[in-house]
Amino acid sequence: MDMFVIGGGKPLRGRVHVSGAKNAALPIMAAALASDGVSVIHDVPKLVDVTTLLDLLKTLGVRSEWRADGALVLEVVDETRCVAEYELVRRMRAGFCVLGPMLARRGKACVSLPGGCNIGDRPVDLHSKGLRALGADVRVERGYVIAEVDQLRGGSIYLGGPFGSTVTGTCNVMMAATLAEGITTIEAAACEPEVVDLGRFLNRMGARISGLGTPFLRIEGVDRLQGAEHTVIPDRIEAATLMIAAAATGGEVELENVRVDHMTAVIEKLREIGVVIECATNRSAASLPAATTVRVTAPNRLRASDCIALPYPGVPTDVQAQMMALLSLAEGISVVTDKVFPDRFLHAPELVRLGSRIRREGPSAIISGVTQLSGASVMASDLRASAALVIAALSAEGESVVRRIYHLDRGYERLEDKLTSLGADVRRVVDEPANMPATLSVAMTAEPPTSTASVPRPKWLDRPQSVTPGERPA
Ligand code: EPU
Repeated sequence: MDMFVIGGGKPLRGRVHVSGAKNAALPIMAAALASDGVSVIHDVPKLVDVTTLLDLLKTLGVRSEWRADGALVLEVVDETRCVAEYELVRRMRAGFCVLGPMLARRGKACVSLPGGCNIGDRPVDLHSKGLRALGADVRVERGYVIAEVDQLRGGSIYLGGPFGSTVTGTCNVMMAATLAEGITTIEAAACEPEVVDLGRFLNRMGARISGLGTPFLRIEGVDRLQGAEHTVIPDRIEAATLMIAAAATGGEVELENVRVDHMTAVIEKLREIGVVIECATNRSAASLPAATTVRVTAPNRLRASDCIALPYPGVPTDVQAQMMALLSLAEGISVVTDKVFPDRFLHAPELVRLGSRIRREGPSAIISGVTQLSGASVMASDLRASAALVIAALSAEGESVVRRIYHLDRGYERLEDKLTSLGADVRRVVDEPANMPATLSVAMTAEPPTSTASVPRPKWLDRPQSVTPGERPA
């Protein structure tokens, strides 16, 4: 297992490229299961979740190849298999996205339940509800969701849940509905840009989906989908992570390949905190906004701000942990609330180890800003928590160690290389005692007291005993 050793206190400076969005690329790759022919997908980030999904797709009869120009080529070569094994799905929730396209195309899908997760409850009831509304028989047996149907039929589906809509649930139902007979309407569909990107890819393959980016989707079923070429949108979560890292270290960073129209809430929030964000205005003449370059600078002292993670277009829950790292350094008291995953706060105690002052109150964390964090050894609990700990360690005084960074590798493409290119001191080493920086061991400056003689007597013990029983000494 690897860990990062981070020498903190170096402002990030320079220019860096934002990769394609993990959470768009994964369902887009799964959609290949529903099509004939070859799909060519550009800007798929090379990270562990993508490799895991490619392994899963291989077991389901999909051939894949990385072209020399970096594009990912996918083609279904065997449609006889329909079991997505626990061993692969448990490693990455997005593996559950094979359910909808496999059911639609093969008439049967048997997909392992993804299992527990460190960011809170992650049920799949809405996925099943949506597929049932399309006529599928869906049941759970021995830890697997088994869905079967002769022919999916269009239906009306409401996908709202207690915490808003569901991102991968919308993806699954939308993919299945493209091959259903007749018209499907989805209400309370997720509006995240990653869902829109999947919808655009499906439309390129021949699907007829309208209403993308709104909570109301209309899908006219077609007989077949044909492989297509597509470029994945830039990763708004990676962009936000790098913006926050630049701000937390008091740096000056230019980010290339940013869709600022996908990041309005994050940019507004960062500006409220005092971060300066300048966007080059290179909207193309075409109607779709283009990716642009963004410059991020930060003043010496940031301002506290309350932050609520919400479904899109709100501040994403996937940026909540990183925001907490930044607000740890802001002057005043901030309240951070997560309305999507109310228990997603495992990073809080680790940030406290780095010197943050955080108190948890139900679905919120109350942060009293400090002027400086100090290096420590901390443990990552999930993907975005890892990013928050890396940000805090980059800004802290002295050396830190971030352990269990396999979480980080799941969702960021070469993050340490990108940070190093910006001047950060981040080293990946094997997690073993020999690699622990000596600066992290606490030196005992004095022997602990051995007798009560060395413990000073409280002053009140030496006062005249005039205190009546029950009365507290002053
Ligand atoms: N929910 C239900 N029932 C369901 C599905 C979800 O009640 O059937 C609840 C969840 O418990 C949660 C809320 O609805 O409280 C939202 O969950 P959602 O289904 O939208 O999450 P997801 O699709 O499993 C995706 C991203 C997550 C991101 C969330 C929220 C992918 C592969 N994953 O997960 O990304 O946090 O949407 O935006 O797209 C990450 O990248 O680090 C990550 C966790």
